[in-house]
Amino acid sequence: MSEPRKTWQEIKSVKSTQTPLVCLTAYTAPIAKILDKHCDLLLVGDTLGMVMYGMDSTREVSVEMMIEHGKAVMRGSQQACVIIDLPFGSYERSPEQALQTARRIIDETGASGVKLEGGAPLAPSIKAIVDDGIPVVAHIGLLPQSVQTPEGFRVQGRQESDIARLMDDARTVEDAGAFAVVIEATVESVASQITKALHVPTIGIGASVECDGQILVIDDMLGLLQGHTPKFVRQYANLAEVVDKAAASYAADVRGRAFPSAEYVYRSKAS
Ligand code: KIV
Repeated sequence: MSEPRKTWQEIKSVKSTQTPLVCLTAYTAPIAKILDKHCDLLLVGDTLGMVMYGMDSTREVSVEMMIEHGKAVMRGSQQACVIIDLPFGSYERSPEQALQTARRIIDETGASGVKLEGGAPLAPSIKAIVDDGIPVVAHIGLLPQSVQTPEGFRVQGRQESDIARLMDDARTVEDAGAFAVVIEATVESVASQITKALHVPTIGIGASVECDGQILVIDDMLGLLQGHTPKFVRQYANLAEVVDKAAASYAADVRGRAFPSAEYVYRSKAS
């Protein structure tokens, strides 16, 4: 028997237990099934656009894509709290739009909550969603949906004015009702300061070991993606190499007529 699914209240309560939250992104049922017993929280992140679909940014991801991958991750997992990103263009216009999208995603997937990018300006939307009974994870620091050029991927919190804004973002999204806050690509001391100031857990990605939890993009940490890897990614495996070697062996077997050999073919009963 597996454990019941972790609730958002249990995720929130780690602030007092001090045991860091283990979080990863997941986009498919088989990966969710493997990660489930290791993770407190699985995020169906809009990074799926880049990771799964080869898009140039997360800005092309649709609500429908988030819903289909959300359903897959819910099917594959039993214990982890599953959170789904609101994609670009689906929530920024107004609190009403944000609520409508959040309701649709939760109704169609059964996930535990939603995440949205943005600090203080998004507080009215966070409040509208939370007041409707849908748990929200906020996302501050680097906001990939707002980045339009490669130079836009900049570490946050290097200027004094930045630090005050980030702290204000964090406090405002907490006051609006977010039960956790992702901090992305932010100077370590600033992420640590924010973590100390908040009563809800912070989840770092390129932030600080002092955050209340950590998250990475699954394909990054498995070493599946080729090309630029951000500084904050530790690769725990090199699956690109594993897949490459397996494909090379398969190709050699097929071309040499070594596959399928006797054990992989069906014979008639008579022979
Ligand atoms: O979309 C995503 O995968 C994310 C993580 C990077 C936190 O938001």
